[in-house]
Order: sequence, then C-alpha cells, then structure tokens
Amino acid sequence: MPDTIEDGALVFIFLDAKRNWIRRVKTGEEFHSNKGIIKYDDLIGRPYGIRVRSHSGHEFQIHRPSPADVQIAMGRNTQIIYPKDAATILIQAGIGAGSRVVESGTGSGALTGILSRAVGKEGHVYTYEIREDMYLGAKKNLEKYGLTDNVTMYNKDIIEGIKETDVDAVVLDLATPWLLVDEAHRSLKPSHVLASYSPTIEQVMKTCKALGDSGKWGMIKTLEIFEREIMVRVNKTRPTTWMVAHTGYMTFARSLAVE
Ligand SMILES: C[S@@+](CC[C@H](N)C(=O)[O-])C[C@H]1O[C@@H](n2cnc3c(N)ncnc32)[C@H](O)[C@@H]1O
Repeated sequence: MPDTIEDGALVFIFLDAKRNWIRRVKTGEEFHSNKGIIKYDDLIGRPYGIRVRSHSGHEFQIHRPSPADVQIAMGRNTQIIYPKDAATILIQAGIGAGSRVVESGTGSGALTGILSRAVGKEGHVYTYEIREDMYLGAKKNLEKYGLTDNVTMYNKDIIEGIKETDVDAVVLDLATPWLLVDEAHRSLKPSHVLASYSPTIEQVMKTCKALGDSGKWGMIKTLEIFEREIMVRVNKTRPTTWMVAHTGYMTFARSLAVE
C-alpha cells in the first residue's frame, strides 16, 4: 500500500468521533462540510496522517480508512456484524491472507468487506444473498469501497447448495443456520471452521443441536463479546455511560474428517 495519498485513493477525513467521512480524492475536486472546504489537490502526494485546515480554519486529520472505519461508514439495510464480532470471527475461524471463504447472507456487505480485506489478493470470498435488493445494495457498498476484486457475489438461496468445495471457512449470518450444517460440512476442508452469527439464543440452541446431532462437527462453542469504551479525562477516567449491550452470539465448530 502506498504511504502517500494518491489520486483516486480513499481517505478517512476525521474531525471528531461523530463527524468523519470516507471520500475518494480526485484531482481538481473538493471536500465540502459545514466546517469548511478542503481541496483534494492539497492532499494528493502527501502522507496519510496529516492535519489540514479547511478554508474556514477547522483542523481535520486525514487517514487511511481502517476496516472498522469502512464497516461503520457503509450504508446498511440490515443489522451488520460489528468490528468486535468480525475480529473474533476472523481469529476463531483462522481466516487470513489466502483463505477461501464462503459467506451468507451478504446483507449490507459489511462482513464481506472485512473478509475481503482479510483474505487479500491470494484469497477469495464467495458470498450468497437470497434477496435481490440486499444483493444489489451490498454490491454498491463493496464497489464504493473498492472491495470487489476478490469477491464473488451470488443472488441465491444458499440452502439450494454451496458451489464451492475445499474452502477454508464458512461464515453464516442468516436466520436459519441450523439448516446448513450438512452443506457447510460438504463445502469445508476437514478440520476447518464454520462460524455462525445469530442475534438470539434460540437460534444458537437450534444450531448447536443440529451440529451435535449431525456427528460431523467437533469443538462446538459459542461466544459473546462485550466491548466497553473507556472515557479518559483527568480525574474522571471511567467507562462511558452508554454501551452497545447486545449484538449477537457466535458459534464455532470444526469439521470432522469423513474416512
Ligand atoms: C443480518 S443480514 C447479514 C448482514 C451481514 N453479515 C453484514 O454484516 O452486512 C442477513 C442476510 O441474510 C440473508 N439471507 C437469509 N436467508 C438466506 C438464505 N437462505 N440464503 C442467502 N441469504 C439469506 C437475508 O436476506 C439478509 O440480507
């Protein structure tokens, strides 16, 4: 990745935690906000991390957008998987550079974007979405942030079948994951991970029962992750008053070899 801001690159324009934007810089064009105008020509060729002043004197920081910045900025029509849960899925499912991953549903494409960044140029993400409106919305989101090169999107019901075999991970975020335990096993390499994200305990219980009953899965476990931000102020350092109390539960299982 280049260290300097190139014409056509995405930048994260940061004023404060609530006022920040991801934009694509273009020669001759400008960023407009109610805190002033920044000329993209004043950014191109300079390093990420610079501070610049708008024409009205407000200071902005210009950064390279992180995966979390992109995930939060994406337009969404569904509940998305948040960075704390996405990071857990990547680690627990062993998803990294070169991985081939099947995902469903695509939803808003927030997790698809994280998977795309994680697997990189050598890897690939195959994502299945049953609803055409969601499929089109996610496609638009992923195109906007340049996350389509290593992603194949299907507007299909994954229950009809997963085309890919010998994949490194299967990640599910849909209403009925328990219907997919056999199909996910058929698609995965042995001793690789199925990750299933569900917002309710009832879904988790049905999924764990189906995984156990199938006899094809080992090391079944379910996690919930809490994230609490700490407000750091002189003599007032403490957790922030409000936190996101619930996002979802994540169930992980490893595919057993069939000999
Ligand atoms: C909660 S959203 C997924 C959000 C996504 N993980 C994200 O971070 O943006 C669930 C999606 O699964 C899709 N879905 C439900 N059942 C499906 C199926 N059988 N095949 C494919 N997609 C399905 C829904 O249409 C919906 O868009």
